[in-house]
Amino acid sequence: MIRTIVCSDYAEMSRRAADIVEAEMLLKPDCVLGLATGSTPEGMYAELVKDNRDGKISFAAVRTVNLDEYYPLAPDNDQSYRYFMNYHLFDKVDIDKANTNVPDGLAADTVAEGQRYEALIDSMGGIDLQVLGIGRNGHIGFNEPGASLDTYTHCTDLTPSTIEANSRNFASIDDVPKQAMTMGIGSIFKARRIIVMASGKEKADAVACMLAGELDTNCPATLLNLHRDVILIADRAALGE
Ligand code: GLP
Repeated sequence: MIRTIVCSDYAEMSRRAADIVEAEMLLKPDCVLGLATGSTPEGMYAELVKDNRDGKISFAAVRTVNLDEYYPLAPDNDQSYRYFMNYHLFDKVDIDKANTNVPDGLAADTVAEGQRYEALIDSMGGIDLQVLGIGRNGHIGFNEPGASLDTYTHCTDLTPSTIEANSRNFASIDDVPKQAMTMGIGSIFKARRIIVMASGKEKADAVACMLAGELDTNCPATLLNLHRDVILIADRAALGE
């Protein structure tokens, strides 16, 4: 069941998403947050940083698991998702970095890393609130469109369209890693609540596909229709209005 919160623009989407994350933190100070990267949640992280500085919320007991990481890529590379999270959130709030987790983009054995990450999520008691963006092709995390989808954390090949879309953050398209470690659909479904953020007309096709209600592995976000508690927070452009 997907509920939709309609926002006028990116700023409102960011604020509404931050409100839901903060509500979770207030109700359960040691909650497990599943976090996402990309330009979509940047504004939400800025709101969380502001409210932490203003003393409205505390990350002191919060634990986090990120969805994905490029492979291979070192955590100190400024395009890694570990670097992104440190820059946009972890270095700016009162979180204990030891309680933050991102898949290892340098794991020698990606199968073992997938198993380690999955066991980690389970040992934390699952995810209380998972934040998701959505790829232009409907991917969530790095679960790319295809004939089948993986259940648990795994290493995956990125599609040419994702490499192209994400190349805007790299010096050249050749610098974009061709693979990534990502939670699977089953890992994401371990979350008790999921919020999906979407902004801009580039996301309108993927959002429309997700809201159409049919399941299609060629648009992984459609699988979210099977989860019992999903909230889409989207601006009018992403809703095709
Ligand atoms: C990346 C990430 C996704 C993200 C998507 C959209 O590929 N793996 O988690 O949702 O891109 O990114 P953006 O928000 O920059 O459009």
